[in-house]
Amino acid sequence: MQNKIIVTGGAGFIGSNFILQWFANESAAIVNLDLLTYAGNPENLVTVSENSRYQFVHGDIGNRELARGLLTEHQPRAVVHFAAESHVDRSIHGPDDFVRTNVNGTLGLLEAARSYWSNLPPTDQQAFRFLHVSTDEVYGSLGLDDPPFHENTAYAPNSPYSASKAASDHLVRAYHHTYGLPTLTTNCSNNYGPRQFPEKLIPLMILNARAGKPLPVYGDGQNVRDWIFVDDHCDAVRTVLARGGVGETYNVGGRSEQKNMDVVETVCAVLDELRPDDPVVPHRSLIRFVQDRPGHDRRYAIDSRKIERELGWHPTETFASGLRKTIEWYLEHDQWTRNIATGAYREWVAKQYSL
Ligand code: NAD
Ligand code: DAU
Repeated sequence: MQNKIIVTGGAGFIGSNFILQWFANESAAIVNLDLLTYAGNPENLVTVSENSRYQFVHGDIGNRELARGLLTEHQPRAVVHFAAESHVDRSIHGPDDFVRTNVNGTLGLLEAARSYWSNLPPTDQQAFRFLHVSTDEVYGSLGLDDPPFHENTAYAPNSPYSASKAASDHLVRAYHHTYGLPTLTTNCSNNYGPRQFPEKLIPLMILNARAGKPLPVYGDGQNVRDWIFVDDHCDAVRTVLARGGVGETYNVGGRSEQKNMDVVETVCAVLDELRPDDPVVPHRSLIRFVQDRPGHDRRYAIDSRKIERELGWHPTETFASGLRKTIEWYLEHDQWTRNIATGAYREWVAKQYSL
């Protein structure tokens, strides 16, 4: 095997932050397999595009021939699988892409990995890892007083997105149990940070607030998410890859439960301070309650004691410090935002928010 890993979905939000963090901390080369859907943005990786340790491959994880060919050619020691359709609201409008990529695509990748892995010499077989990046949404919704999700919480996905991720988690589990493929799975809570596509809550609010557009809060705004700064999640993925137990799953969270309204209010307060001359100030005057998301999960919370206790990982960013860093990044990267504000993005916003 080579000192190389294959990353899928590395042009997206978490994958690109992972690749940047990887090159700052690790020696192995990366092959990034990404289909460049609306969420994939090569600009996220412009600083490493000339790096001799980096190679980009444009393609679909569901293309088994392609995946098998890449594995045979590069002989990687691991696959780190981020590629997915990731937005809950889009899954409600159209579940097919979610099943195609998250379920069938993951199956194709697992088949390619199994075929590669089963032909490796025994010591390489032992060293190889297939790390599947998943979500806390597979566990469903919590009441306000329920204990947080732990690794043995029963799966109860509620959206087409989370159902497709749950199916992919089950396939990964089955490939370990049935074929012995050395898998690892992480189930992480809501990420935020630089390079997140502005269909998700925090970047959407930052961009709309700056432009003096309405800030659409679903339902009563009291839904709770556990927020983690993206670098902490990437660090957890690297930790699990290095030291995680084969066949194990690890919950990853930021120890930072927040109600949506509080998140939006905090974004507005930071922007009031940093951009007092924006068209509409105070920014919070732009908040509008809009129709709730169908089947909207009330609360997610993560018990991440397993990864903390067994692997020594801890989140380092508080929500206040991480959110400020995130807002500052968006303020400093106007051009990034302008470049992704394509016709397709505008069409999505018009469809979702009737704007
Ligand atoms: P994203 O939507 O920003 O990026 C997804 C990437 O996958 C894009 O680069 C896209 O081009 C690529 N992709 C999509 N379909 C593909 C296909 N068929 N073949 C190859 N590439 C394809 O997603 P994200 O927010 O960075 O999430 C990454 C992973 O982490 C996903 O698996 C998601 O379920 C999981 N996750 C996300 C969060 C979160 O808060 N964003 C939290 C926990 C877990
Ligand atoms: O929990 C992990 C998951 O977090 C990931 O698996 C998903 O890929 C990721 O998209 C995220 O899912 P959410 O649905 O929680 O994230 P989103 O940013 O879409 O919404 C966060 C909360 O904010 C949610 O309760 C819905 C609400 N919301 C969202 C948008 C886009 C609003 O109130 N208004 C909005 O315009």
